[in-house]
Amino acid sequence: MSPNKRIAVWMSEKKIQKVNWQELETVCGNYGFEVFKLCLKSSLESQGPFCVLVHKMTDIIASANLGDVRCIAILQDVERYISQNPTLIVIDPIPNVRKIIDRYSCYSIIHSTNLCTYEVFTPNFCTLETNDVETIKHQLRIAHVTYPFLCKPLLGHGSRKAHQICIIFNERSLIDISTPCVAQSFINHDASLFKIYVAGDKHCMVERPSLKNYQASDRETIYFDSSDVSKAGSKSRLSVLDPEDVVERREPDEKIINLIATTLRKAFGMDLFGVDVVIEKSTGKYAIIDVNAYPGYDGFPNFYEALLECISKKMSTDLT
Ligand SMILES: Nc1ncnc2c1ncn2[C@@H]1O[C@H](COP(=O)(O)OP(=O)(O)O)[C@@H](O)[C@H]1O
Ligand SMILES: [Mg+2]
Repeated sequence: MSPNKRIAVWMSEKKIQKVNWQELETVCGNYGFEVFKLCLKSSLESQGPFCVLVHKMTDIIASANLGDVRCIAILQDVERYISQNPTLIVIDPIPNVRKIIDRYSCYSIIHSTNLCTYEVFTPNFCTLETNDVETIKHQLRIAHVTYPFLCKPLLGHGSRKAHQICIIFNERSLIDISTPCVAQSFINHDASLFKIYVAGDKHCMVERPSLKNYQASDRETIYFDSSDVSKAGSKSRLSVLDPEDVVERREPDEKIINLIATTLRKAFGMDLFGVDVVIEKSTGKYAIIDVNAYPGYDGFPNFYEALLECISKKMSTDLT
């Protein structure tokens, strides 16, 4: 096997367990590549050369951002190797993954695209860094964040805490917010969420359960863990619609889904990512509420084929 046809893959042990490694090896072989598991505990040079690095280092990057010394050192090693090997194809580039896992920068990037001309939007949002209620009120007002709203941890990866979210219904409950977080207006969507999985220029969409409709009220803050709500087969009581909700079934328009996938791929400079979309009940507009690096791809037909197509295209454009 030629040395420039080796693909290094790194993901956590837990994720590796879920991967069909045999199938990955076969598909890589069909495209003329050899694949191997990269070890971050020993030097990358000693495991090279390789021409492609596919990784899911989101948790390492998030922990490094939070100051974890071991993760900072690992990341420095990987980034040094990447800069010393400029022809290495990295899926996806670490600076771009950094932007996606910071919810504030992620929403800002979506906001800066032209998606709003196609009735696609990201709900109003702002960061909250203080516990001073008057300052919080002011920040919510200038960002047009409306009640109810969700508070999501700033980093969308890195620990269980990253998925602990609350819904605030009134000013009295502002004291419940734990900062730093991103506040984002709640969009009613009849408890139905669409996940778009993107792999290079291919994408697919699956429907998942989501939160029921809510209005501003004097009710108490709701705390939840996102992994209990929107996984396949989740049956959270927070997803049960009220009897008076009249559900209008809306099928997402494939043209708009395609537009979201291609626009965000370019805007984020990422090939492997997932987008959570809900359809706003009152307007039928598409709200992008979350973007994740290297999602699970459950239900994505022939994911490895899509990945290898993407790698092959990148290799041939890099040669020209
Ligand atoms: N702006 C929003 N309006 C309504 N529901 C939302 C909104 N944002 C998130 N949700 C609900 O909360 C869940 C978790 O939020 P999300 O931002 O996707 O967090 P995570 O990064 O943990 O997946 C979503 O799957 C959806 O059900
Ligand atoms: Mg999500």
